[in-house]
Amino acid sequence: MTMTEAATAPSASPAPLLRTESVSKAFGGVQALSGASIEVGRGTIAGLIGPNGSGKTTLFNIITGYARADSGQVYLDGRRITNLPPERVFSLGIGRTFQLTRIFPTMTVFENMLIAGQHKERSWNPLARAGGAASRRHAMELLDFVGIARHAGALAQTLSYGQRKLLELAYVLVADPEIVLLDEPAGGVNPSLINTIAGKIRELNAAGKTFLIVEHNMDFVMGLCDRVMVLDYGSVIAAGPPAQVRADPRVLDAYLGTGEDDDAQDGDRGAGHEGA
Ligand SMILES: Nc1ncnc2c1ncn2[C@@H]1O[C@H](COP(=O)(O)OP(=O)(O)OP(=O)(O)O)[C@@H](O)[C@H]1O
Ligand SMILES: [Mg+2]
Repeated sequence: MTMTEAATAPSASPAPLLRTESVSKAFGGVQALSGASIEVGRGTIAGLIGPNGSGKTTLFNIITGYARADSGQVYLDGRRITNLPPERVFSLGIGRTFQLTRIFPTMTVFENMLIAGQHKERSWNPLARAGGAASRRHAMELLDFVGIARHAGALAQTLSYGQRKLLELAYVLVADPEIVLLDEPAGGVNPSLINTIAGKIRELNAAGKTFLIVEHNMDFVMGLCDRVMVLDYGSVIAAGPPAQVRADPRVLDAYLGTGEDDDAQDGDRGAGHEGA
């Protein structure tokens, strides 16, 4: 993959659906992103991996308008969308989930789905009229698709962590975005539900949905993604098919660290922390 394909004839290779070009972002003295360039082909499942703190969530936040880039650009289908507000990015067809789920715990699973349907209407009252017959039916279909329809009437807080992730997936699908960004969809989820989540992503992708997935679970990423990009200290250090990336010494270095005390490095950078 070259980063200069935009300069060549459009017919040479299809333009990526989503692309970031040299995005940088600092938080005070912390350089979270340093010239991060990624691309996601239409109809593919792309992975974005990297140690804790390497900038994955920050890049998601910049793509989706939740954080502003200091420099660099974001393109959706060739159109510049850099620093547009979140609701604008959402309406252009980029859906996302959050590293820590953002469902409403004291509302029912079904009410959470109705809120998702109201995004476009800028109303957050679930009892407002978003519950038209069609949207209610669509909400139930999606809950059924992810396998939690039987919990529709239960308070969202009664769902297991993995079921909440499934609710988030159903939630983001309500608006039928062209591309879905998932921030750690398998994090903290039990193995059997992880397989369910992977299966749903595959099914959606087979039907044409494009995905960009951040995830620390390597089996999940490598088994699901067509292409994997690796961030380290805010820059992409490797990108390619899973097998190639997995064998790349730079990637092994990034994960294990180059210090003498590998265990400490691994423990420090490999453990999950509360981001987002
Ligand atoms: N709002 C913020 N204010 C200050 N620093 C931030 C903020 N958001 C992120 N950072 C810092 O930017 C760096 C990148 O963080 P980010 O959350 O993007 O990493 P990540 O790759 O998603 O990590 P993880 O795998 O642990 O979720 C980290 O050093 C983090 O502490
Ligand atoms: Mg993160």
